[in-house]
Amino acid sequence: MKSAQLSAIGPAEDVVKCIDVTDPGAPGEGEVLVDMVACSINPADILLIEGNYAVVPETPCPLGIEGAGTVAAVGSGVSNLKVGDKVMSLARTNWVQQIRDRAEAFIRLPAEVDLAQAAMLKVNVATAHLMLTTYVSLSAGDWLIQNAANSGVGVDLIRLAHANGVRTVNIVRRDALIQPLKELGADVVVVDGPDLAARVAKETGGAPIKLGIDAVGGSAIGRLIDCVGDGGTAINYGLLSGKSCEINAFNFVFRDITLTGFWLAKLLGSMSFDQIQAMYAELAGRLVDGTIHVDIEASYPLDKISDAMAHAKRESRGGKVQLRPNG
Ligand SMILES: NC(=O)c1ccc[n+]([C@@H]2O[C@H](COP(=O)([O-])OP(=O)(O)OC[C@H]3O[C@@H](n4cnc5c(N)ncnc54)[C@H](OP(=O)(O)O)[C@@H]3O)[C@@H](O)[C@H]2O)c1
Repeated sequence: MKSAQLSAIGPAEDVVKCIDVTDPGAPGEGEVLVDMVACSINPADILLIEGNYAVVPETPCPLGIEGAGTVAAVGSGVSNLKVGDKVMSLARTNWVQQIRDRAEAFIRLPAEVDLAQAAMLKVNVATAHLMLTTYVSLSAGDWLIQNAANSGVGVDLIRLAHANGVRTVNIVRRDALIQPLKELGADVVVVDGPDLAARVAKETGGAPIKLGIDAVGGSAIGRLIDCVGDGGTAINYGLLSGKSCEINAFNFVFRDITLTGFWLAKLLGSMSFDQIQAMYAELAGRLVDGTIHVDIEASYPLDKISDAMAHAKRESRGGKVQLRPNG
């Protein structure tokens, strides 16, 4: 079978190769065999491949932080999954046609779920959900602000916040995104740049913003934190600019802003399997009821992995790039 694997650290379009690997074989006791249907390519995959992630892998190695598929076979002693069930994988080796793993490495999904959407559930939907619920208590009518608002996480955040009556200010990099994000439920959409805090205050009527969510770092997080209300909280969860956070210390000393970091892997590591399962069951329900949906710009087979990598690295995309391991 085919697998997209990392041959060496380097530019993603050059170093990820589609190779033939041995079929995984029939599942043993407590194991499940899954046919992978859809896998998202995330910024974190690219960071890992190019040597810029929290860990640098030894190569060669399999790849793919998320993916979803259907159960092809179950081993003895597996009672919670059956052939044909739709599942999301918790493994980080998903860019492959079949995975054989212990049953606890998969989360069962509702039969009605779209597997292409489910392939974005593990990372981005959970990230949006946990950032909305873990750090600040937000009630209907409260405001938050985020940048990279048209990203997968950003769109999930808009939709989840809107569903709970929480109001969002959304920072983007181009005018063309203002109307589409408003149609998803964004209350305010602004283009990043000078005088951001003044422009945001004008749009919100000066309402205090309790939570700021930053995926960009560099000077962008500084502009975002300038918009957060006194005593508010800011979260950094990405460094899309590739630059360290530049923040005016005035915000910490005189305005009592708290800055924290978010890493999904760390939070999931602190949760029991039952808690993880319950969270994804709730979020999968949001996929089925249509609360959550992220556009997909393109899908590639594994043997076009180099094209897929180059596409996933492009800016100004209209949605996620995915792999379809089994066509
Ligand atoms: N900490 C965690 O646990 C965690 C979990 C999930 C995601 N993340 C991070 O969240 C971020 C978004 O991930 P995603 O999967 O949602 O992204 P995505 O759907 O692939 O979209 C990429 C986004 O990045 C924006 N962008 C790219 N370069 C930028 C720059 N230099 N300045 C500002 N914006 C830039 C793009 O804006 P344009 O359309 O304008 O190009 C687009 O909005 C990534 O940094 C990812 O690593 C972190």
